[in-house]
Amino acid sequence: MSDAWDPRNLPSLAGRTVVVTGGNAGIGYFTVEQLAGAGARVVIAARSAEKAELAMRSVRERVPGAELAHVRLDLLSLDSVREAAERIAEFRPLHALVNNAGLVIASRTRLLTADGFEQTVGGNFLGHFALTTLLFPALAPDGRVVGLGSDSTRMVRLDADDLWSDRTYKPFRAYAFSKHAVQGFQLELARRLTAAGDSRMSLLAHPGWSTNAYAAKRPGITDRDPLGVRVGEALSGWVGQGKDHGAWPSVRAVADLDAVNGMYFGPSRMLAGRPVPTTPVASSASSAFGAALWSDAESRTATRFPL
Ligand SMILES: NC(=O)c1ccc[n+]([C@@H]2O[C@H](COP(=O)([O-])OP(=O)(O)OC[C@H]3O[C@@H](n4cnc5c(N)ncnc54)[C@H](OP(=O)(O)O)[C@@H]3O)[C@@H](O)[C@H]2O)c1
Repeated sequence: MSDAWDPRNLPSLAGRTVVVTGGNAGIGYFTVEQLAGAGARVVIAARSAEKAELAMRSVRERVPGAELAHVRLDLLSLDSVREAAERIAEFRPLHALVNNAGLVIASRTRLLTADGFEQTVGGNFLGHFALTTLLFPALAPDGRVVGLGSDSTRMVRLDADDLWSDRTYKPFRAYAFSKHAVQGFQLELARRLTAAGDSRMSLLAHPGWSTNAYAAKRPGITDRDPLGVRVGEALSGWVGQGKDHGAWPSVRAVADLDAVNGMYFGPSRMLAGRPVPTTPVASSASSAFGAALWSDAESRTATRFPL
């Protein structure tokens, strides 16, 4: 597996359909722009139609004739996930589902999703678990599911018995747990695909530390955060990178023809750099964690993953 993969020179994705959750802002926006630039048809699944319209206009200015669509998705409501999955399935066959959307800090206090689960893990992980379950039958035989992991999993040790913060809630702890869960899910999916002899792939990507302040300017998109956030990003972002480069690991996971089921891509210098293969923390790679997470998610979503 080459470290010299060039994110600025993608193979053609003409005829491929990719779904990007949270594709109307941040890393998701740049993931859409780069994949559309390589010829993919892209479905943006996100809450705000206004932000999605702006994102699609911005992509079309740079990629004339780009085939784009928006489907409304709120990961904090399983009803919304079910409705979105039905609409997205109309675009089948899907060649990649990029589960990008994410809340870093849902709230300083422990809030619940519409279905009664802690919001950070409920949205970042459980919503995507349900979406993937429902869209799996629409995924092409060479299709890929890409999850967005995070280095926060290296900073906060997993307490699998308190994944849902029933005992203790701290915003960043809950965020890191949501990313442990995303990584655990994608790696468990990879194991199950291999065991079933299924040709589809489950992959992970993480963007290091990516900010709007250092990204290529996209009016109304990269400048949407409050001024205070942008100033904070600008002051601290020198060790990181722009969200345009933050999209590279996800884009590689979708487009690299040599990618192998279960791979994880991240920036070469941990927080920034070209997209290269990396490794997850051992706790989220544990098959015991993956199996327990899977059955817990099936029971919370009242779904059964077809694997
Ligand atoms: N930036 C980093 O340095 C960094 C580091 C590690 C991992 N990550 C991960 O990378 C991903 C993208 O991060 P980002 O920095 O680009 O975040 P961002 O700029 O805050 O964008 C988040 C995206 O998620 C969508 N979203 C939020 N809540 C949603 C919900 N309930 N339902 C559907 N969509 C929702 C937002 O759109 P709407 O609000 O319109 O729905 C938006 O498009 C996340 O998974 C994040 O955890 C980022």
